[in-house]
Amino acid sequence: MQIFIDTADTKELKAAFDTGLVDGCTTNPSLIAKAGRDFKEVIAEICEMTTGPVSAEVASTEADMMLKEGKRLAQIADNVVVKLPLTWAGLKTCKTLTEEGIKTNVTLCFTPNQAWLAAKAGATYISPFIGRLDDLGLDGMELIHDIRQIYDNYGYETKILAASIRSASHCIEAAKAGADVSTIPPKVFNALLNHVLTDKGLADFVKDWEGTGQTIL
Ligand code: E4P
Repeated sequence: MQIFIDTADTKELKAAFDTGLVDGCTTNPSLIAKAGRDFKEVIAEICEMTTGPVSAEVASTEADMMLKEGKRLAQIADNVVVKLPLTWAGLKTCKTLTEEGIKTNVTLCFTPNQAWLAAKAGATYISPFIGRLDDLGLDGMELIHDIRQIYDNYGYETKILAASIRSASHCIEAAKAGADVSTIPPKVFNALLNHVLTDKGLADFVKDWEGTGQTIL
């Protein structure tokens, strides 16, 4: 499963890309607002950090404007993926951008039917929001399972991008459910590595090695 980082914070992104394990990035208008910087400038900066996909979301809710915005965003760099909301206008724009060879990420997906329509519109990625469904007391992960089954049944090539990830266990469950990508907030990405027994085990190894008085080089 690929890892994208879900942030517009370029400092956090740089640290994540420096691990060599991160495949791309997703942003949304809320994350851009949180970063407090010029949208197109931030996207350009992120696109220079990676050759992987970088999702940048349109602001308009109307198809003609979405198309113009999407084309403008796609001009920033070759690895920009235009993010579109799961509305009729978003799907119409998705279809047009796909036909023009521009990659798309259809976002705010909460049902298998929405994901099916996005695949029919030729979306490169579909973003089902796990955490926001869990917040309502529903089972967000069930949505990933359902979409995987539908896409596999009919050979849709749209990639499942598990979004609204809130915990390290969400990542494990998304991988088990067959998501192609998980987009993860930096805090959760860092938590993927942590285990108390790893820390304790390493401290013991370092101490015992020092006790031998040996060196390897
Ligand atoms: C990513 O593409 C989504 O915009 C993001 O994962 C949403 O996460 P949230 O529900 O934590 O805001």
